[in-house]
Amino acid sequence: MVHYLRFLRTPQVADISKKTIQISAVAAVTTDLGDSFLSQDVTTIARIVDATKHGEILRSSEICWRNGMRAAKINLQCNAKYAGRLVHLHLTTRDTISAYASCEVPAIVDAWSSRFTIKAKAKAEPLVERRLQLQGKSQARIWEETGDSIARHIWFVDDPLPLLRKLLTDDKAKRLRVLEVGAGCGIVGIALSQLRKSDIVLTDLGDAQDILQSNVDCAAPVSGSSLKRQVLGWGAGLGDLEETKFDLVLVSDCIYNPDSSVLLVETLKELSNLNPNLLVFVAFKRRHDADDVFFEHMQKNELRVVEEGTIKLPHIMTDYDNNAPQIESFVYKAGD
Ligand SMILES: C[S@@+](CC[C@H](N)C(=O)[O-])C[C@H]1O[C@@H](n2cnc3c(N)ncnc32)[C@H](O)[C@@H]1O
Repeated sequence: MVHYLRFLRTPQVADISKKTIQISAVAAVTTDLGDSFLSQDVTTIARIVDATKHGEILRSSEICWRNGMRAAKINLQCNAKYAGRLVHLHLTTRDTISAYASCEVPAIVDAWSSRFTIKAKAKAEPLVERRLQLQGKSQARIWEETGDSIARHIWFVDDPLPLLRKLLTDDKAKRLRVLEVGAGCGIVGIALSQLRKSDIVLTDLGDAQDILQSNVDCAAPVSGSSLKRQVLGWGAGLGDLEETKFDLVLVSDCIYNPDSSVLLVETLKELSNLNPNLLVFVAFKRRHDADDVFFEHMQKNELRVVEEGTIKLPHIMTDYDNNAPQIESFVYKAGD
């Protein structure tokens, strides 16, 4: 299972003297839902990075995360000459840095605090930024809130399926019309907008819209792409989305509640009625048997699996998780 560095308390300037400045924060290494802590030792790196001078590291320190810990205190002292600088606190590991350098999913995802100025009592906002390396030089920068809402957490999805790859790589001049349902913080649709010319609509419930908008604002879609967000509750009708014949619908980690799964299928059926050639890409992490409700309803509604695959995730063996995790992925289609 992929683990995440998280801020339990975002950085703040704890003390400023004539010679030194002390910056403190509290962090943890947890699973995606934040419900379990990493139960093995790992050396993390906390560093103060200048937000304006392209990554200048002002101070770096190693913090040991030990099996059994639920929180790690971070206290960094830096030289008082840095007062007034606009900085981030970056939490990472050496392996994370190497994984990004080779475009791989890291076993531990790093965390960037929001920017704060080094001055008395300054505190970073309760946000965390993830900077994920995509193919080529593109980087997806995604904000999450530091609370526990799953609408704002990141789930990794890769794409090994030939039919989907063909849609994404054929006829690159054509703008793909893409809708993401249950987009959360928008990582999947935003990553796609940075890789392929497309018109992408990221949708989710009302309370995910602020974080979605922040991520739309700092995304860097390829030239000719458009990216917007809007509210779409499953099973509540398509509203003005009915006016677009989408080519692709993205469903990433939206199957975890049998009641909402039925509504989700209703929405996917309505979308496929608009375009029989629509492909629906579903990426799914199995959590309980009731997850099958989604697949049964897809079948009842004559949405067929035309391709399937599995994506192995990096895995750290722990007491609570000794099965190597995987993402199952499916491409569905309504027509022949
Ligand atoms: C586990 S998150 C996945 C987020 C995102 N797709 C990803 O992979 O990063 C599930 C998302 O489904 C959304 N969701 C749950 N029920 C919904 C509903 N009835 N209508 C619309 N979105 C819903 C949640 O708000 C949440 O953002």
